[in-house]
Amino acid sequence: MSNAPLPASFHEPLKFAYWVPNVSGGLVVSTIEQRTDWSYDYNKRLAILAENNGFEYALSQVRYIASYGAAYQHESTSISLALALATERLKVIAAIHPGLWHPGVLAKWIASADQITDGRLAINVVSGWFKDEFTKLGEPWLEHGERYRRSEEFIRYVRELWTSEHAEFNGDFYRLHDFDLKPKPAQVAGRAHPDIFMGGNSTDARGMGGRVADWYFSNGNTPDGIAEQIRDVNDVASVHGRSGAVRFGVNGFLIGRDSEAEAREVLREIVAKADREAVEGFGSAVKQAGQSTGDKKGMWQDSEFADLVQYNDGFRTGLIGTPEQIATRMIDYKKRGVNLFLLGFLHYLEDVEYFGREILPIVRELEAAELAAV
Ligand SMILES: Cc1cc2nc3c(=O)[nH]c(=O)nc-3n(C[C@H](O)[C@H](O)[C@H](O)COP(=O)(O)O)c2cc1C
Repeated sequence: MSNAPLPASFHEPLKFAYWVPNVSGGLVVSTIEQRTDWSYDYNKRLAILAENNGFEYALSQVRYIASYGAAYQHESTSISLALALATERLKVIAAIHPGLWHPGVLAKWIASADQITDGRLAINVVSGWFKDEFTKLGEPWLEHGERYRRSEEFIRYVRELWTSEHAEFNGDFYRLHDFDLKPKPAQVAGRAHPDIFMGGNSTDARGMGGRVADWYFSNGNTPDGIAEQIRDVNDVASVHGRSGAVRFGVNGFLIGRDSEAEAREVLREIVAKADREAVEGFGSAVKQAGQSTGDKKGMWQDSEFADLVQYNDGFRTGLIGTPEQIATRMIDYKKRGVNLFLLGFLHYLEDVEYFGREILPIVRELEAAELAAV
């Protein structure tokens, strides 16, 4: 564990989000049994269960075509609105791609959905890794840095529309002239507009996160790997007068069992039964997407075969073991500045309930003990 002073945000309880299984095949590319379904009915049950088991957020993924084990996909903004309407408190984050949405249309769509749900919509701006998705839709696939330049303009544009009565924007990708979006998103205490998350790990992603994001989501990683990203993003944020403005979420695939041996055995079986061809295909597509970064530091550049079986490096976060082990590890990340865990599971309904019953109470006890000690 780190002995550094606690980050300023430590007094805030850790937040939890889960990956909405809105694409088929579950969250691991493996033939192991996954009692998880991608249908709306299943997702509706899950969302209600999750909000009663400590989850404040759900993240809907965006994928337009079959690839590496995800034969069917529900569109992210529509399922997000449906899940928010099916629940009472859950905030639902819809992943969206600049390049496939016009930012004005998206801002309008979310403003209405946010009004309808009393302020429970958010977006996750993803810059894309899947070239085929763009080219098959007839859209150009930009080089890595350009994808991020476009994403940054997209975020600035959407925020301008959500907050200004005479919105103006003059960028390389998008333009806006004296625009007054009505209605604006819902007025909710504690936020200026729906939360803007972004996902990425590269230097481009860190720069964009520091300059414009409310939340920076990263792939799974070790506590040191995450701490390095947090430092980089915070450095950029402070240079741009945004000290403390960005919060951090980390992906983790959680396998909680009553004994560590049981949990490890589940991981071993997932990897042993990996769909090798799909994992390798995915690995080469994402490495291609990251190779075009200037410094080759894109997400997945150092991922091993076993890491890629969970397609966002979720095993690397190490949330695998007994409730005590997982809770203790979460606190270690929290001490390094993590505000939120984005969790994936093998058998969602069972595992989400186990999390709420067995793991979350220990996290809260440990948080209280840490605060009492300072
Ligand atoms: C938490 C998280 C969620 C993501 N969700 C999606 C998604 O739903 N669809 C998608 O195409 N890419 C998604 N991505 C991947 C991004 O589009 C991007 O390809 C990836 O973050 C690589 O960025 P980098 O090269 O800057 O490291 C996600 C990334 C993260 C970290």
